[in-house]
Amino acid sequence: MIAMRETVMIAVAVAGVLGAGICVSGVRAETAPLPVGQAKYYEGCGGCHGLNGVSAREQIPVLRSQVGQFLCSDEGRRYIVQLPNVSFAAMDDATLAATMNFVVFKLGDDSVPDGARPYTAKEVGVLRRSPLKNQPLMKLREQVLGRAVLACAHGSPPTSVRN
Ligand code: HEC
Repeated sequence: MIAMRETVMIAVAVAGVLGAGICVSGVRAETAPLPVGQAKYYEGCGGCHGLNGVSAREQIPVLRSQVGQFLCSDEGRRYIVQLPNVSFAAMDDATLAATMNFVVFKLGDDSVPDGARPYTAKEVGVLRRSPLKNQPLMKLREQVLGRAVLACAHGSPPTSVRN
């Protein structure tokens, strides 16, 4: 359990990096708990991906301002849920959907294509029952992301993608 003081510090730090839209919640965080998707991301994903979506290690993809591009294609949308670290996360479907929506729409920020739908518990529940297995994931990632970026008129060019 993170002490309230630390929670507020994290919330303020995140509000700082995520931009003006969250400034108001920096104030609210003193009295209200973090939204579930954000809290679960800190708990179950942030250790690898970094609290603000910028990982410390080269092998772990940066989520911040990039991950939204996967929603340019159905294939990409499915891929990021079917990753083993996501599908097997110790969360129920609704919590995982909230976590993915935090990841994609908050951390992903401007990289999300216009009109992208949030994940629902039902969709995540179906996808995570067919997780990716025994695959060379980095090669698959390159292909899936490449096709998604091409499919998305709004997306950033592939050269802007790290890893
Ligand atoms: C043990 C470290 C680790 C944990 C914990 C982890 N991930 Fe990952 N994540 C990775 C690695 C490594 C990859 C690259 C693909 C692979 O090898 O699985 C990745 C890929 C991703 C991607 C695709 C991003 C891209 O650009 O390719 C998303 C989205 C993602 N993770 C979300 C999550 C979420 C949400 C959680 C928590 C439920 C989580 N991850 C937990 C290490 C981790």
